[in-house]
This record gives sequence, C-alpha cells and structure tokens, in this order.
Amino acid sequence: HTFTCTLSSGTNIACIKYWGKKSVALNTPINSSVSVTLDQKDLKTVTTVVASKSFEKNRLWLNGTEEDVTNSKRFNACVDGVRRMGGERRGEGKEVLVEKGGWGDYKVHVSSMNTFPTAAGLASSAAGYSALVKCLAEVFCASESYPGELSTIARQGSGSACRSLQGGFVAWRMGSKADGSDSMAEQVCNENHWPEMRAVILVISDLKKDTSSTEGMGTSVDTSELLGFRAREGGVVDRRMELIEKAYKERDFEAFGKVTMQDSNQFHATCLDTYPPIFYMNDTSKSVIKIVHAYNAWKGRVAAAYTFDAGPNAVIYCLDDVVDEVLALMLQYYPGRRLDGRYVRDGEAWGRA
Ligand code: DP6
Repeated sequence: HTFTCTLSSGTNIACIKYWGKKSVALNTPINSSVSVTLDQKDLKTVTTVVASKSFEKNRLWLNGTEEDVTNSKRFNACVDGVRRMGGERRGEGKEVLVEKGGWGDYKVHVSSMNTFPTAAGLASSAAGYSALVKCLAEVFCASESYPGELSTIARQGSGSACRSLQGGFVAWRMGSKADGSDSMAEQVCNENHWPEMRAVILVISDLKKDTSSTEGMGTSVDTSELLGFRAREGGVVDRRMELIEKAYKERDFEAFGKVTMQDSNQFHATCLDTYPPIFYMNDTSKSVIKIVHAYNAWKGRVAAAYTFDAGPNAVIYCLDDVVDEVLALMLQYYPGRRLDGRYVRDGEAWGRA
C-alpha cells in the first residue's frame, strides 16, 4: 500500500524570541518564547508526504529540487519520531491495512513548497517542519500520548516550528526534563481570540541570510554575557512572557506592542554582543524602527510594533483599524514599490480568512 497526504502550515513570528540552545542534540532552548501564527494566505508551506514499503529510502524535494536527507538529523528525527507514534490504519471497507506500530518498514517521499523566500529570516523552517510533522501524523495515523507530544517532534526539526502546529498566540515552554519531552508548545489564545490582529510583512531582502539561526545562537551562547542575563531563570524573558501573555489575553495592544519591540531590540542587542558580532538588521531595517516610533508618537500611543528575526525583514504588528495607514506609510517610504507585488505583503493573523 501507498499512503499520501497534502496539507499546509502557516509560519509564526515570535514576539518574545527564542535565541540559544540548552541542548543541541535535543534542540531545547535556554528560554521560553511566544509567537503569533500567521494565517495561510501568503506565507505558508504546502507539503505532500507519500509513504510506501517499496521506497528504498526517504527523499525530500524542497521547492522542486531534491535535497539529500540521508544524513539530515532534523529531517530524520521528524520522520522517525512521528513513525514511532504511528497508529492503526484502516481501509475504506474498515479492514486493517497497517497495524498500530506497524510502520517500521515504510519510507517517505516528501515534497515541500514555500510561498515565500526560504532562509531569508521569515521563519520558513517553522512553516516547513510544522507542515512536515502534521502531514506525517496524518499518513502514519499518529496519536499523541500527551498533549503537545507532536510539537516535541517538530521542535527537533526546527525550534520555532513547534509553535506553528497551532494557530493564535502560542508559547513554547522551555521545559525542565532531561529528555526534552516537556519542551513543547502550548496555545495561549486561539486564532479567534483577537481577530483584529494583523501582521504586515516588509520583505527588505529575500537573499539567504549570512549567519543561520542555528550557527548564530551557538556563537551567542558561547560569547554573549547579555544573553545569559536575558535568559536566566526569573530574568528578562520570564518577566516578559508573563506580561505579554496577559496583554494578549486582555487584547491590550499598547502593552503587547511595547514588549514585542523591546524584545526584538534586546535580541538584536545580544547579536551585537556576540563575538564576533552578528548583524541581521540593515540600514533599511533601522529606518523602519524609526518610522514606527515616529508614527506611534504622532498617534500618541503604541499603534504599531515592529519585530525582526534573523534577517533584515520587518514584521509590523498592528490592529486592522490602522493597517491601511501603516501600509500607506511604508509605501510612501518605499516609493515605486507595489502593494500587490513582492515588496510589501499584508498577512492577516491566522484564522481570519
Ligand atoms: C530569531 O527555529 O530557525 O526566529 O531551532 O536552530 O532551527 P533552529 O532555529 P530557528 O530559530 C528561530 C530564531 C528566531 C526567533 C524565534 O522564532 O523565536
């Protein structure tokens, strides 16, 4: 038998950033983090998984080009992890086709397409690995033995991916167990909680970033004292996690926006504090920061909040009553760049379509 599934997953943009690994082998973080999962209108990964006993090996095509996954620890951790959770699969006449735990001989062929620039710091790995894990779970009829178990598998693909299995506002709790089994995602608010939330994506550069997150966080953990200060128990991140979860629950944009900007700034400060330093933002990114603060000063409140991941591209969170104003401001700033094209993208929070 051959089994197949196609589905998609949205990316997520962190408000409190994950930066630094406690265990590289388990891909567990040195601090908890939290993000908004975007809807699947613009930024998403579409993945097809085909499983068969007759395949010789696991294979992966990324945007149509085959990647060798024989030695990919991340890819194989996801395939093996979900396969181990595999359940009974029945045919249309209810006959048992594969017994629970009977997936050992199956190999997979995977095709994955991104609708946005891969590795430009737009969290493509988050959408990619969460789509992969969701798709594998369907194909292998996997069921969780505790809530969040699948997110512990997605985490091994890419840390941020564990936050994309659910919509809305999703926290990744760092956990404390030595085997990483409690380092998993938890939905703080679902996608219907704050439907006015919008994310405006400014693609400043779609070139591949020059320091991958994995490599960058390794150097930061080794060399940045500021990162230790930020991530320590009861430190900056723990305080901000509490504050932002409360703000999101109460739909308090002022508090949500301020801490989102502060945490983006502190993450980039730890990059500068890394030795040798890492620069993800460029001059255009910095101008966006200035414009947003000028805009907020003019409004007399926090009406828009920027955040930047491991690349120069900006994400601006705002509520939908000001989204046209924010877009107009950015278009004014980027004369000649079009709204419908590659430069400015307007993604809605997931679930609003
Ligand atoms: C700056 O999840 O890409 O976007 O676990 O090594 O795959 P790996 O890292 P990744 O790092 C994301 C870093 C970030 C912040 C965040 O999304 O929380």
